[in-house]
Amino acid sequence: MEMYNNEKLVIDWDDDDKNYNINGYEKWVSPSNLAIIKYWGKEGNQIPKNPSISMTLSEANTTTTMEWYYRVPDEETVTFFYNEKENKAFADRIVKFLGKVEHMFPFIDDLQFVIHSKNSFPHGAGIASSASGLSAIALCLCKIEQYFFDTLESDEDFYRKASYASRLGSGSACRSVYGGWVEWGKSDVREDFSDLYGTPVSEIHPTFRDMKDTILIASNKEKSVSSTAGHKLMENNDYAEIRYQQAKNRLPELMKALQDGDWATFGKIAENEALTLHALMMSSEDSYILMEPASLQMIELIRQYRKETGHHVYFSLDAGPNIHMLYPADIDTEVRKFVNSKLKKLCQGGKFIYDHVGYGPEYYPNED
Ligand code: DP6
Repeated sequence: MEMYNNEKLVIDWDDDDKNYNINGYEKWVSPSNLAIIKYWGKEGNQIPKNPSISMTLSEANTTTTMEWYYRVPDEETVTFFYNEKENKAFADRIVKFLGKVEHMFPFIDDLQFVIHSKNSFPHGAGIASSASGLSAIALCLCKIEQYFFDTLESDEDFYRKASYASRLGSGSACRSVYGGWVEWGKSDVREDFSDLYGTPVSEIHPTFRDMKDTILIASNKEKSVSSTAGHKLMENNDYAEIRYQQAKNRLPELMKALQDGDWATFGKIAENEALTLHALMMSSEDSYILMEPASLQMIELIRQYRKETGHHVYFSLDAGPNIHMLYPADIDTEVRKFVNSKLKKLCQGGKFIYDHVGYGPEYYPNED
């Protein structure tokens, strides 16, 4: 099932437009996100094997400006600057992405783009930027559609299309177009949950609406296996089917915990999901390990701290070695002391990021 074959969105240029080299630009700051129930395994055109749910981050984000011009034959369709330096590999990735969403935004064919992108987190901090980076570009495309055609009338239409397009670039990116907590993947839990785009979940207890996530950088080495390759390895993983079922069963349980403010259930699921993700990597045909010794030390320290203090402090991991330490905002001062006294020295270069549940992408209108 596909949506958005919008053949009508073709720009009717007149010669004056072409002669004046009409152009414009859009700017978005889009956040990264952390899945608590993980998306790991996909099929077809970016269809997840199981539903996932994530919190949108705030401090870990990508700022993207997308300038567009009337396309001149033989010129590059995409010129990409990452941190003000031209990056041809990123440009190639965006050209591929534009090819995947062209049926949704046929006007792409008539335009060429100059993109400037920078991440708030230091390069090589081991934080995946595909969710924030690709959602920012999808949001820019939706704004360009608005500029020419005014077709995305409601916010719902706008963000749903942005989420759908983001998914085609990177699965987890479809959850980054909304703030708070976002679900992606069809499920019996709610009829409006879809494999094609993310859906914001608003029935969340206040304690989880401003949850803290302190990201501890265990290593900033380049990942040895990409997420895309990791998803592929699930196809021959002996545990795949039972894993997909586990995630499906967990979704209602986690949603209830989020609604009730039940930290104990939340923490149990969050930690088990993180370790299951890494267990799946270790048990795939071409086995691999992304955790580092420091990751394990941090996990031990967090569990010990929880035991000693009785505080609700839990960990999660993405497809990488870094630890996301999750806890309620009201113990922030105390937990920061713990970070400084015990965890900081295990972080590569002493690096960590205090993050928290965020409000979602922010648009910066053109002020010229
Ligand atoms: C472990 O979204 O990066 O972060 O769809 O191939 O781009 P592609 O993969 P990606 O996978 C993310 C996996 C994860 C879990 C999650 O975010 O749900």
